[in-house]
Amino acid sequence: MKVVEGITREGGVLALGGVALDRVLPALRRLEPSAAACWVYDLDQVEARAARFKSAFAPLGVHVGYALKANALPAILRRARAVGLAAEAGSLGELIAARREGFGAQERILNGNGRTQDEAEFAAREGVHSVNADHVEELDLLQAHAARAGTVLRVALRVNPGIDTHGHAYVATGHDAAKFGVAPAEALGAWAARDRWPSLRLDGVHLHVGSQLLDPGPLERAADTARELAEESARRGAPLGLVNLGGGFGVDYSGSGAEFPLEAYAARLARKMEALKAEWVMEPGRWLVASTGVLLAEVLWVKRRGGATAGGSRRFVVLAAGMNDLIRPALYGARHRIVPVRPRAGAGEPATVVGPVCESADVFEREALLPPLERGDLVALLDAGAYGAVMSSNYNGRGRLAEVTVSGGRLMRARAGEDAAAVGAREVDEALEI
Ligand code: LLP
Repeated sequence: MKVVEGITREGGVLALGGVALDRVLPALRRLEPSAAACWVYDLDQVEARAARFKSAFAPLGVHVGYALKANALPAILRRARAVGLAAEAGSLGELIAARREGFGAQERILNGNGRTQDEAEFAAREGVHSVNADHVEELDLLQAHAARAGTVLRVALRVNPGIDTHGHAYVATGHDAAKFGVAPAEALGAWAARDRWPSLRLDGVHLHVGSQLLDPGPLERAADTARELAEESARRGAPLGLVNLGGGFGVDYSGSGAEFPLEAYAARLARKMEALKAEWVMEPGRWLVASTGVLLAEVLWVKRRGGATAGGSRRFVVLAAGMNDLIRPALYGARHRIVPVRPRAGAGEPATVVGPVCESADVFEREALLPPLERGDLVALLDAGAYGAVMSSNYNGRGRLAEVTVSGGRLMRARAGEDAAAVGAREVDEALEI
């Protein structure tokens, strides 16, 4: 029985990529004896989604840069690369990760609104497809490094188009109060004055208006803005050759079937943009990987507590994973469906599903309807493949969890978990000369 794409129930047990999820932690415990939770990703599903994304936008010839910030696990990068995706890096660390996994210069796109000397130097020395500059002064820094390296850097200016996505404020990036990008008029001014930066090929526009968009409307408005800017810049004698529309493609966390209409949007975009002869780039992150991963966790405790005042009792289910592992619910009020791996018989009843961190925000779901659960049972938090492990921390002295991959029915430990001793490994006592 299919639960979601790639997740099935076989003989009553939840399975990912054909592997029963109750077999993962026992296997992991041979290497990490105290593991009680871990991330599991279906690599075949990553590859299938990457191929689907690429082919949807093939008519426009889009260069698809996978946004590493969603999940930069090397095993995932290899699958993205295998189907011809490029890499979008938001930092020096991600650029290095992309290079390590074999993404060549033309397959690396550099983003970020706090450009550093190190990033500019890397881009100029090692080469990138393009840099998305977040403001006009950054161009001087890029120019200096490109000139020193004797190269020409291709640059797109990130434009803040003043488009509101009506999503969560923390992931809306294209409105007036957001920190990203330059005003359209500033971008037009910079493109027209591009001779000032002789070592830059400043012919691109970059727009990324937000994340987790299920309605393609804001993305289409961003594309319209890109086209209008390209036309206006051409009228001013500075034609553009590169249009980067960023990421933002949402996924259906609720399970209601409200998918982002990828193919329909791609077809509309191709029709709309026919007249604009440019190289196209997109930077999807979440859409490619969110649904391919779960956070698997044991139930540590089930606590029933009567109200301090009158009223019924509440069931708290304490998991071995917490907000330090998956912060999305605490940070954005995001919901990840919680599914028992081997459900016990019995009627569903409400449960508040929490982690073990000493914070009241450490709640995954306040009113989940779940069958009976007991200590040692397993649950999976779905759609945890994007912005999950990458946002985890050592808060409360907790080690980050292992990451396991599934492919062709085989399990691999792709990133080791940190045990309690490893959490203190960076602590030193070293004199600093002043
Ligand atoms: N390009 C740029 C410039 C970005 O800033 C981002 C994401 C992407 C592409 C990829 O966006 P996507 O296709 O994944 O929506 N931590 C949040 C999401 C933050 C997104 C940051 N930027 C979350 O867990 O929902």
